[in-house]
Amino acid sequence: VTLTQDDLKKIAAYKAVEHVKSGMVVGLGTGSTAKHAVDRIAELMRQGKLKDIIGIPTSKKTHEQAVSLGIPLSDLDSHHIVDLTIDGADEVDPGLNLVKGRGGSLLREKMVESASKKFIVIVDESKLVNYVGGSRLAMPVEVIPFCWNHSLKRLVSLFAYAGCVGELRKCAETGKAFETDNGNYIIDLYFEKDMGDLNEASDLILRLPGIVEHGMFLGLATSLIVAGVEGITVKTK
Ligand code: A5P
Repeated sequence: VTLTQDDLKKIAAYKAVEHVKSGMVVGLGTGSTAKHAVDRIAELMRQGKLKDIIGIPTSKKTHEQAVSLGIPLSDLDSHHIVDLTIDGADEVDPGLNLVKGRGGSLLREKMVESASKKFIVIVDESKLVNYVGGSRLAMPVEVIPFCWNHSLKRLVSLFAYAGCVGELRKCAETGKAFETDNGNYIIDLYFEKDMGDLNEASDLILRLPGIVEHGMFLGLATSLIVAGVEGITVKTK
């Protein structure tokens, strides 16, 4: 049997759900990989193998999925500390730094994941990179809609040394600006060369007024589960 990419996502997700125990407050990630984890949690609840789970969704989409599966939900206002969050990523480096947000949910994901005692990242092997933020793929930044073009120019000029270009993310169907769950826009940054020190790059971005959050998740993940055609690899910090 040849495993599809979706099979690999599911394998990683199921493995991560083995760490969910009854009574936990669990952060529910967003995206095609995390979706399998949410399905699996609901399945174990139906089978009576998991009890008293409270889910903290990281997007409206995951909220809807969890409601449809009957998972009891809450939020960070009521649960300041989350026991465990399971979520996918767009890129993962050997130090477990991530790029997230190509699905647009980076802000709520980062809020929940930074409040989590444990954050398990689940990916298929295609997501592994040597250095996050050096790839030709998008590094998303959530900005407020007000004068977004100005914010785009300021972001790009911060990283002129790395050959940075940026564009407003558009909704494929409508051609209009893509709106996040928080009513903000996304600017996708692309780099020709490395950004250099990622923590410095993060600080520079977050210091710009009008910027809400960026898709680099530095030092947040506590373990990584990678599913590949050769099997599962687990890495813990
Ligand atoms: C959502 O905005 C993202 O951060 C996702 O967690 C990430 O894009 C991974 O999604 P997939 O599992 O669908 O690749």
